[in-house]
Amino acid sequence: MANNPHVLINQEAIEKLSQKLTLLHCRGGVVFFLVDDNTKALCLPVLKSLVAIEKFNPIILEIHHGEAHKSLETAAYLWEQITNAGAGRDAMLFTLGGGVISDLGGFVASAYKRGIAVSHIPTTLLAMIDAAFGGKTGIDFMGYKNHIGTFYMPEDVYIITEFLNSLDEQQWLSGVGELLKYGFIARPEFLNYAVLKTNDRTHYDALIREAAASKLELVNTDPYEHGIRKILNFGHTIGHAFESLALKKGLTFHHGEAVAAGILTELWLSVSYLKLDIEVLNEYKQTYQSLFKPFKFSVDDIAAIIQLIRHDKKNSAEKLNFVLIQEPGKAVFDVAVEPSDIEACLRWYIDLFEANGKS
Ligand SMILES: NC(=O)c1ccc[n+]([C@@H]2O[C@H](COP(=O)([O-])OP(=O)(O)OC[C@H]3O[C@@H](n4cnc5c(N)ncnc54)[C@H](O)[C@@H]3O)[C@@H](O)[C@H]2O)c1
Repeated sequence: MANNPHVLINQEAIEKLSQKLTLLHCRGGVVFFLVDDNTKALCLPVLKSLVAIEKFNPIILEIHHGEAHKSLETAAYLWEQITNAGAGRDAMLFTLGGGVISDLGGFVASAYKRGIAVSHIPTTLLAMIDAAFGGKTGIDFMGYKNHIGTFYMPEDVYIITEFLNSLDEQQWLSGVGELLKYGFIARPEFLNYAVLKTNDRTHYDALIREAAASKLELVNTDPYEHGIRKILNFGHTIGHAFESLALKKGLTFHHGEAVAAGILTELWLSVSYLKLDIEVLNEYKQTYQSLFKPFKFSVDDIAAIIQLIRHDKKNSAEKLNFVLIQEPGKAVFDVAVEPSDIEACLRWYIDLFEANGKS
């Protein structure tokens, strides 16, 4: 796998992107930009105002927005479009969008003619701090998240925070969900809930740079997730199951919102398995309730959620492995959790919101 890109942010990103396009133009390969309908309308004009991409005659590939389109059908559609444009292995794909676009675009690029170059221009907070880095690509399949995918490193990631101005509140909070994850696994200072609540996007540049750097550090140490990189999955084992269940039920539930709910349940497990101070759980519970709209499910869904967890890539047939927290900033991976404890945890979660009249 190629080396990880550095964190390029704002002016530096704009300059490096212009240079890259000029270089590609001289080399002569076809240049594609992958967008969804939202990023075409809201982000492409911003990009064009910052970088004169039109003079390089890019082909714009457009898909519908949303997790439901991170699919084999959409990948096949894109391979058709790229083939029809006569792209060779010297082609280059830029993704302009959130994590769905970078995961899908990275996957499509990694398999087309055994791999064409890809670079990401993330447009959501979540993609800027997480999804665009690290080289995990994928599509959802048979109802399972990221079931088919590759490790394929982008050449560059260009972070331009101006894109964040058009994000709605729910998409913004979805990114906050992943920021909270970094707080628990490596950077307790990110758990300064007051900062996260302000929603003052102009103060986020430093936080974005630091979160992206945290991810790169873990990915560089363990690119193929044999060990320490697994801690990035904190909140995701139950979070992904919630997200898959929501998708099956046709509900809108963003990835980072699922992670935020997953963190709540996995902190509960951390209290019982790793003796995490219960005050950490209580404090997060309050933050979660004040920031996020809780994901609703019933006791009847518990078996399906546990079944989805069994299909999580971290698990083997018999063992259900979790990343849990000993104290904020200290995560432990490969903690085997009993299905009966997962059930108890999910029942606690249901009771919590019923008791608060929020379900
Ligand atoms: N590969 C990884 O390491 C990794 C890590 C975390 C998450 N992910 C994946 O990322 C995905 C979630 O990412 P996401 O939340 O960015 O999803 P997304 O790409 O679906 O974006 C969320 C929504 O925001 C819209 N949008 C994007 N940029 C916008 C902007 N600037 N203004 C207004 N609207 C905008 C999109 O059209 C979409 O409707 C999931 O599929 C998840 O599995 C991957």
